Amino acid sequence: MRDDQSSTTALGATIIRAVHQLIDEVPPILEDPVSVRLLREDVVRQIQERPEDHRTSQAKGLRSHVVLRSRYAEDELHQAVESGITQFVSLGAGYDTFPARQPEWARGLKIIEVDHPATQRVIIEHFKGAGISFPNNVEFVPLDLEVGDLRSALAKTSLELLKPALIACLGVLAYLRPETVRRVFQAVASLSNSTKMVVAFAPREKGTEARVGMSTAESAAARGEPWLTRFDQMDLRQELLNCGFSEVAFLSKDEAARRYYQGRRDLPAPRKVRLCMAAV
Ligand SMILES: C[S@@+](CC[C@H](N)C(=O)[O-])C[C@H]1O[C@@H](n2cnc3c(N)ncnc32)[C@H](O)[C@@H]1O
Repeated sequence: MRDDQSSTTALGATIIRAVHQLIDEVPPILEDPVSVRLLREDVVRQIQERPEDHRTSQAKGLRSHVVLRSRYAEDELHQAVESGITQFVSLGAGYDTFPARQPEWARGLKIIEVDHPATQRVIIEHFKGAGISFPNNVEFVPLDLEVGDLRSALAKTSLELLKPALIACLGVLAYLRPETVRRVFQAVASLSNSTKMVVAFAPREKGTEARVGMSTAESAAARGEPWLTRFDQMDLRQELLNCGFSEVAFLSKDEAARRYYQGRRDLPAPRKVRLCMAAV
């Protein structure tokens, strides 16, 4: 990412989540009405008037991945909160609206949003401009993960390093160099025992999903945000274990279909899910 340029892939993800609210079946996989408020009225109208533009198999495949990763992370966070976790950190949070639309169960959380300074500035202004405010339990940490040290940056926040946290890392790793990804994993693995991290990663393998991935990657690269790191499941598991995590569990396609896609005709369940949960 360029130092002076806000991430356009972050904006792209929020448009995808808004499209999901506007044209897909009810109930949505991810209930995110705030994402629609982040779009200009004419953009919303255009989506509503031309839904077919968003119903190509490629658009549906990408939308399915983007809403699934957020829904999965929020479900894992909910479960973590029920088991006593009180801290949530989102790495490369982008326009994630969760902090602005916190359900009742999240109100006791400390929420830390980490993103590249250039992107985070624009995002905070964008939310403000749309009249969306954040509750007091949300803290923003501007950090370029390529150059900054995640653990030291978190140590300067209200996060209690001796207490476990749930970390979300959704659609971010691909934009980081492999050595940076390793430093990020090591930093998270150095946090308290019972810390968990939800990871959405870019695939290495060929096949239908990789075709979707390739064209998403090409479009991101054309916008100055090339994909630098991809994983297959075995590599990612090994890398996480090498970095100090004790356990890694991938969301299987059957489990994803059972939990989130039963009876749906709008979005396809992914053939290969690119999500996992790693525990310290
Ligand atoms: C595709 S967006 C995903 C945003 C969000 N996690 C979501 O699911 O919508 C990628 C995010 O990674 C962030 N990012 C990319 N490179 C980064 C870096 N070097 N340091 C911090 N954040 C970075 C971008 O600013 C952007 O918000």
